[in-house]
Amino acid sequence: MKLKHFFIKNLKVDPPLILAPMSGLTHTALRQLVAEIGGCGLFYTEMLSARSLPFEEPNASPWLRSTAHERPLVYQLLVSHPEELAAAVEKIESCGADGLDLNMGCTTALIAKRGGGITLMKEPKMAQAIVRASRKATDLPLTAKIRLGWTMDWDGLRDFCLMLQDNGVDAICLHPRLKQDRLKRPARWEFIGRIKQHLHIPVIGNGDVTSPQAAMRMFELTGCDGVMLGRAAVQSPWLFRQIVNSHSPSLYHNHFPDPAETFNRFISLLQTSLEPHYTLPLLKRFTFYFSQNYVFGHTLWRLVHKADSLATATTVANEFFQGAA
Ligand SMILES: Cc1cc2nc3c(=O)[nH]c(=O)nc-3n(C[C@H](O)[C@H](O)[C@H](O)COP(=O)(O)O)c2cc1C
Repeated sequence: MKLKHFFIKNLKVDPPLILAPMSGLTHTALRQLVAEIGGCGLFYTEMLSARSLPFEEPNASPWLRSTAHERPLVYQLLVSHPEELAAAVEKIESCGADGLDLNMGCTTALIAKRGGGITLMKEPKMAQAIVRASRKATDLPLTAKIRLGWTMDWDGLRDFCLMLQDNGVDAICLHPRLKQDRLKRPARWEFIGRIKQHLHIPVIGNGDVTSPQAAMRMFELTGCDGVMLGRAAVQSPWLFRQIVNSHSPSLYHNHFPDPAETFNRFISLLQTSLEPHYTLPLLKRFTFYFSQNYVFGHTLWRLVHKADSLATATTVANEFFQGAA
């Protein structure tokens, strides 16, 4: 099977592999790391509150910052009311966003309680108003990231997706888990395929893709247009490139880094991209996933977690890598 690019409105996604929005993880440093290694066709920011975005300073805010390398870049908004959109969209357009995504899948209790994330799947009228307001506010490609919903209701899910499509959403990303599944129960890929059959806009599949073989299976089983990688892309930022290589071995000629090199490069990208007080907490979050590359990864995770400075974290991690080599 050959990887085939697709379009979200006029935005070309090539290769059709996408880095998921992940809070505290998919900031500019991780996106740059993934971009340098290669293979990712579309980047997402982590969720950004539409309510507070207008007050953020693009160059000062770590969440808005990006470089020309992490492109194309879709900004994901957490919205609970249509009135929040105009100012938030103005802000992301001023940051050079290539697309806008509406978060309709977040299950975090506080966010759901405030009417954002997955609450919108229970409130289709509000979701519709938010999509219409988004469409009115911008010509940017518009995507929505959803889950299966609160309970398994196939007709409700299909109608919700048709409503998104009819009101101007240009692509839907489905993470096929219910609200209460959180990230535990395996993603139910069959629903990606079923939704794809009902829509004429592209469908992006997401959930539990951890290898080139799994990515291939998701494409083949569901017929989805793109595959979105989340946790596995933090563990293995080279996974996009491995997926592309498994289809077109000669596409990338730049150096393929080993894990220790990747970890050290991530640290230097954190240092060049973000203020010092952000770097250690973000390295710790990254290491939680990255350490899973090693049989004794819990040791790496514990050492980095205990470190009280970025310098100490770098030293202990490199001692670990030498021992693991
Ligand atoms: C730490 C963490 C943070 C996340 N933050 C977001 C987010 O900001 N917006 C969002 O739509 N999904 C978020 N997600 C969900 C992921 O985008 C993705 O749907 C989920 O991890 C399943 O994909 P995976 O199995 O490839 O990890 C987050 C997931 C994790 C693990």
